[in-house]
Parts: sequence; C-alpha cells; structure tokens
Amino acid sequence: MAASFRRIGILTSGGDAPGMNAAIRAITRAAIDKGVEVMGIYKGYRGMIDNEMKLLTARDVSGIITRGGTVLFSDRCDEFKTEAGMQKAMDNLKKNKVDGIIAIGGDGTFRGATDLSDRGIPSVGIPGTIDNDIASTDYTIGYDTAMNTVIELVDKLRDTCESHARCSVVEVMGNHAGGLALQSAIACGASVVSVGEFEFDEEACMKKIAEEKANGKREFIVIVSEGNGDFAEQLAKRIRERVGVEARFARLAHVQRGGSPTLRDRLLASEFGTAAVDHLLAGESNIVMCYKNGKIVATDIDYAQTLDRMYKHKLTPEQLAAIPADRRAEMEKYCAERLAGLRELYDLTFRLAK
Ligand code: F6P
Repeated sequence: MAASFRRIGILTSGGDAPGMNAAIRAITRAAIDKGVEVMGIYKGYRGMIDNEMKLLTARDVSGIITRGGTVLFSDRCDEFKTEAGMQKAMDNLKKNKVDGIIAIGGDGTFRGATDLSDRGIPSVGIPGTIDNDIASTDYTIGYDTAMNTVIELVDKLRDTCESHARCSVVEVMGNHAGGLALQSAIACGASVVSVGEFEFDEEACMKKIAEEKANGKREFIVIVSEGNGDFAEQLAKRIRERVGVEARFARLAHVQRGGSPTLRDRLLASEFGTAAVDHLLAGESNIVMCYKNGKIVATDIDYAQTLDRMYKHKLTPEQLAAIPADRRAEMEKYCAERLAGLRELYDLTFRLAK
C-alpha cells in the first residue's frame, strides 16, 4: 500500500491539451492527502534528463484548474529514447527520491512510462491529447475543449460566409484521427466532412454543395481532418471551380490546443488524476487510466498500446499472429466497433446537411 511510496513525480509530455493542469492539481492533492509528496517534473521527459524538478504543495496548484496549457510545460524528447538519456533520467529520479511516476500525454508518453516501469519505477499513464486518438479510451483530456474551440471558430466563419455567400473549408487537428473533425462537423452543421478513416467521395461533396446552393443556401462549411497534405486547400479551389461557390481555406492549427478547459475536461482530468494516484499507491504499475462506457478503468499499457496499433493498422503480421486467438478476436471486435462509431458520425453529417 501507500507505505512504499514517499514521493511520486508528475509530468506532461507531447502536445499540450486543455485540462492537463486540472489533472496536475488532482494528482498533487490526492497524493498529498495520502501522505505522499509530489515532484513536478518540467518539460516532460526532458526535465527528467535535465533534472528540472520541484516539489509541489497543494497551494502551488491552486487556481490552475481553469487554465489551458500545462504549468509543468511540455516537450517531445528524443533523448529519452536513447540508453544514455534513459540512464540520466533514472539517475535523477533516484537522486530526487522519486519512486513512482504519473505521466500525462499521448502514446509517446506511455512508451516512456513503460520504459520506466521496466526499469523498476512504477508508472501510470493518463491520456491527455486533443486528438482523442488513443484506442483504449473513449475520451482523452483536452478533446472536449478542442471541439468547443472548433465550433466557436467555425460559427464565426459561418457568419462571414453567409454575408458573402462563401464556403469555408476548415482544416482541424487530430493527428490522423478523425474524431475531432467528425464531432465538430456535426456540431457546426457542416455540409461535408472528410477524415482519413473513410474514403472521400468528392463527387458527392460537390453534388451536396451544389444542391444546397440550388436550395438557396448561402453559406457552406466543409470540415477536413489534418494529415492529408494540402488536400483541404486544394479542395477549396475545386469547390470554387466546379460548383461556382467562392471557397476559402482556413487552418485552425494550434489555437485548438489552447484555452480554458470545459467542464467535461476538468471533470475527466480530476477523475483520471485521482484514480491514477489511487492505482499507483495501491501497487499497480504500467497501466493507463481509460474512460470506458462512463467509467474510469485501469488498462495495462502494453495491452492498450497493442490495441492502439491494431486500430491504426500498425501491427506486423508476426505481431498479430503472436496474439492468442480469442484475445485477438476480442480486440478486433473492439476496433471494429470504435470505427463503426466514427462511421455513424460521418454518415450523420451528410444526413443532416441540407
Ligand atoms: O497531438 C496533438 C497535436 O496538436 C496534433 O493534433 C497535431 O498534429 C500535432 O500535435 C502538432 O504538433 P506540434 O505541436 O509539434 O506542432
């Protein structure tokens, strides 16, 4: 139980996401409540290597629940993937008497947590990314805020599109995952959506916009998920040429990563943070907190990463063959259901656009 932990470390790594601060606050307070000290590690795994750490008090995290970004800063640290970098990180953890880690971020962050667990530092991951691209969880911290940012900005674009009878082709983030684009598209009342998961039917897109135009519509929103080069920009040109609607391209970019977190992200981050502390102090390691069917659950990181790679078609035939048949069937079913959920959102956008 808690007795074996004197001091745990927290870090945020990879792309920042609104709600990371709420998680930092929850972890700090939940751990201190259990008599465990909390070391804030700055700039993700970079701070572990460079020994940038500071003990956090419950007071230090006061007021941060409302703030976007991460007070611990973030980084994508390649040196941590090297043996020399890992060794420096381990030495610093030892020097600072850090005996457990909670790492907030995406899949790269969890790989780091696994490496630490393998070297005897119990580690727990918390999914924090606006992309919601971690297959083992229904939601990640920051996703809800990012979608709300997208709809706020696209609503503004719609106003000006209506005045000028234009189409806005809006590229949103997601890092190869279409959830952010799909949910935002429905909420923005987009005419058309394009995501990497499903083949784009350009004829249907042109037809839809032409029909809407014929029905007297003046403003058109097309949402495109990033990750396909200059596809969105080129699509805007083709809409102009083929349908005769003045189309402008807009890339929302990093504005989607900022801002005060929504209620949903604050709540999720608070629940993830508290649960991560409880699981870590109970002696569990190499797990990631997930949100499944309305509940917070702990999932083995190796399993979560295999599932993720299966969902993203990144497993080699040999890796697939190594998974026991019944487990593989269960994982494939899970992936198919997740994709089917996205497909429903995709179809809904087109059904509701008139
Ligand atoms: O993973 C979060 C994310 O914002 C992605 O949506 C995007 O593709 C990427 O990070 C951008 O990365 P960077 O911060 O390096 O520009």
